[in-house]
Amino acid sequence: MSKNTFEENQRRHRLEDDQRVWLFGYGSLIYLVDFPYLESRPASIRGWSRRFWQGSHDHRGTEENPGRVVTLIEEAGAVCGGLAYLVEAPVFRQLDIREKNGYLRVATEMTFDDGSHAPGLTYIATPDNEAYLGEASEYEIARHIYRAEGPSGTNADYLLDLAAALRELGLHDQHVFDIEFHILKLGNQ
Ligand code: SIN
Repeated sequence: MSKNTFEENQRRHRLEDDQRVWLFGYGSLIYLVDFPYLESRPASIRGWSRRFWQGSHDHRGTEENPGRVVTLIEEAGAVCGGLAYLVEAPVFRQLDIREKNGYLRVATEMTFDDGSHAPGLTYIATPDNEAYLGEASEYEIARHIYRAEGPSGTNADYLLDLAAALRELGLHDQHVFDIEFHILKLGNQ
């Protein structure tokens, strides 16, 4: 069973309704934008790497057969590129529901493509959450993703859409692209 982090996130950061907050997205938040925002900008955060190490029981898998989705893993010197969105604070209620399967809002500083910085929030599923699956080789992850599916669609589409969105942003992520390579090969077998 996975633990629902919605309530914890609602308590975590007391935001005023009229506050505007930068949200850093690095996974599906880059390409599946079902929330209102005022502005979006390419951005990066330091000290984190994107990894398909989080289980998905509610979007790209099920309780019985969880999928694999991205989270951020602490890594000294790493830079993770993504998209930042300026959102009105009440939007976090909707985001907390979407990210409820183990992700917690974490305060972070992001760097925009012009070199300027801003404080904001990002959703991270840490290794102690119950849906966490942990490290595996890119080949094993691809095999896992290839067969998983949930209410939001196939796990392969999550991976392929993310890889395409990263390319579109001019971002290189070897981990994601290696998994994509294996998925495409599995599809051709
Ligand atoms: C994110 O995209 O920033 C968080 C992970 C996800 O929802 O895929």
